Amino acid sequence: MKRILTYGTFDLLHYGHIRLLKRAKALGDYLIVALSTDEFNEIKGKKAYHNYETRKQMLEAIRYVDLVIPEQNWEQKISDVKKYEVDIVVMGSDWAGSDKFDYLQDYCEVVYLDRTEGVSTTKIKNDLKLQEPKNGINQIPTPKNENKNS
Ligand code: CTP
Repeated sequence: MKRILTYGTFDLLHYGHIRLLKRAKALGDYLIVALSTDEFNEIKGKKAYHNYETRKQMLEAIRYVDLVIPEQNWEQKISDVKKYEVDIVVMGSDWAGSDKFDYLQDYCEVVYLDRTEGVSTTKIKNDLKLQEPKNGINQIPTPKNENKNS
């Protein structure tokens, strides 16, 4: 059995996440997601909308995901690979070209998968912010030529 491991926050689940998980699973038979805890996100300077338990439950409901474990620090990867007998660690292409995870190649294969263009949790949050009504008033435009007496 080929085991795959990937890392991330997976807040506000979106199509980019699903595509990443689908392609990661297709590399083997068993997909483990190490999900950043709320405390680790704080260290990374990230604040998730959904807490860890909620994000975990959402990931567990995805057919490509077999197991969710906590990601609590940057240093746990080698012990994760050993403990779960991982064959391939999948990282997003945002890390490709950096030598940050080269050390893992002594323990398993490291594969970088391309990110899906045009979507991210940060983008969704920013887009929703732009839609917020100004002054708390939801400004729904009145249709032109509307005859209030008819
Ligand atoms: N991912 C992807 N395509 C996207 C967004 C994310 O393939 N458009 C991948 C990342 O490369 C990573 C995984 O999904 O392997 C989890 O990424 P995460 O950082 O949790 O998602 P983002 O949407 O990028 O979140 P944020 O905007 O908060 O960084």
